[in-house]
Amino acid sequence: MILDNNKRNPSSITPSEITPREIFENRRQFIKNAGLGLAAGALSTSLLSQAATVVGGDTKGDGVLIGRANAKKQVAKTGNTQKLPAFKKTSYGADEKLTKYEDVTTYNNYYEFGTDKSDPAIHSTLFKPRPWTISIEGEVKKAKTISIEDFLKLAPLEERIYRMRCVEGWSMVIPWVGLPLASLVKWAEPTGNAKYIEFISANDTLTMPGVRVPVLDWPYVEGLRMDEATHPLTLLAVGLYGEVLPNQNGAPVRLVTPWKYGFKGAKSIVKIRFVEKMPVTTWVKAGPSEYGFYANVNPFVDHPRWTQSSEKRIGAGLFAGRIKTKMFNGYDEVGQMYAGLDLRKHF
Ligand code: MTE
Repeated sequence: MILDNNKRNPSSITPSEITPREIFENRRQFIKNAGLGLAAGALSTSLLSQAATVVGGDTKGDGVLIGRANAKKQVAKTGNTQKLPAFKKTSYGADEKLTKYEDVTTYNNYYEFGTDKSDPAIHSTLFKPRPWTISIEGEVKKAKTISIEDFLKLAPLEERIYRMRCVEGWSMVIPWVGLPLASLVKWAEPTGNAKYIEFISANDTLTMPGVRVPVLDWPYVEGLRMDEATHPLTLLAVGLYGEVLPNQNGAPVRLVTPWKYGFKGAKSIVKIRFVEKMPVTTWVKAGPSEYGFYANVNPFVDHPRWTQSSEKRIGAGLFAGRIKTKMFNGYDEVGQMYAGLDLRKHF
C-alpha cells in the first residue's frame, strides 16, 4: 500500500499508529518501482487538493495536509442520519475489545478519496451512496441488477465482530452489520462456469477526487474464488457499530473477508461479475511481486519489504506493543479451503 505520512499533522498521530520508517520509505520506493509515475507525495497531494476543490470538497483551504484531528471533526460534524433496518446480534467476536468508532471512521484506506489515512473521512462528504444498484454480470443465468433496498431483503441482517488485519501491519476490531455474500450468490444464479467472482468499486470522478489521480488503475477491482465467496464468514457489510456504513468505510456496501488482508474488502461495490478465470485485481496489477490474489493473512510469509509476523492494534494505547499475527488472522476454519495449495507461492 502507498502512504505518505509526511502529509499528516504530527500532533494528530498517536505513537501506536506510527508506521516504521523502513516500511514507509519502502512504499515510496514501491511506487517508483511500479512505474506508476507518481510519488504519493507532493504531486498527488497537489492534484488531489485541486480535484477536491474542483468538486467542492471540504478541504478547509489546506487540502490533504489536514490530519486525523480534522477527520475526526468531520465525522462528528457529518454524523449519520440514515437508519439501518433491524439486525440480529451474533456470537462472532463477542470476546473482542472493539476499536473505537472514531478510529474505525478516521483511519481509512480508500484511495478514491486520497492516499492519506485521514483523506477518506474528509473528502467523501459529496459521495452519494443512495440511490444505489449493484449489477450482476458474467457467468449467471441472466444478467440483472439489484437495488440496495432489495439487497437488504435477501437475508436477515447480522452484526458480526471481526478482526481486520491490513497488509501494512496494523489491525482493528470492527462490529460490522451485513449479510452473507452467499445469499447474493444464490440470488444471482451463477452457471457451472463461474469459478471466481470479481467485485468492482464505484469510480465517480465528480464525487471521488482521488480517482482523478492515477495512483491505481481505476476502478478498484477485487476478487474471490467461489468457495471463498460462499464461505459462511464472508460478509457484505452495510453498517458498522449498528449504524449505516459511513462513506469512508465503503458505503453503501463493501466486502469483508476477515481471514484476508484488508485490501480484499472492495468498497462501494457497483458491479459483481462471475467469471471463469482468476481476476487480475487492482493491487496485484500494481505490484504482482508484493500483493497476491489470495492475500490470506499469513505470519509466515513476509511482505518482500516488511514482516507480517506481528501487527499494531490501532488505538491500543501508548505503551501497547505489537501483537503476534495469527495464521488466517485466527480464523482457522477457512484452512481446509487451501489444503494442497502452496501458500508461499499463492500468497
Ligand atoms: N476499496 C476501494 N474501493 N478502494 C480502496 O482504496 N482500500 C482497501 C480496502 N478496500 C480500498 C478498498 C484497503 S488497503 C483496506 S486496508 C481496507 O479497504 C480498509 O478498510 P477501512 O478503511 O474500512 O478500514
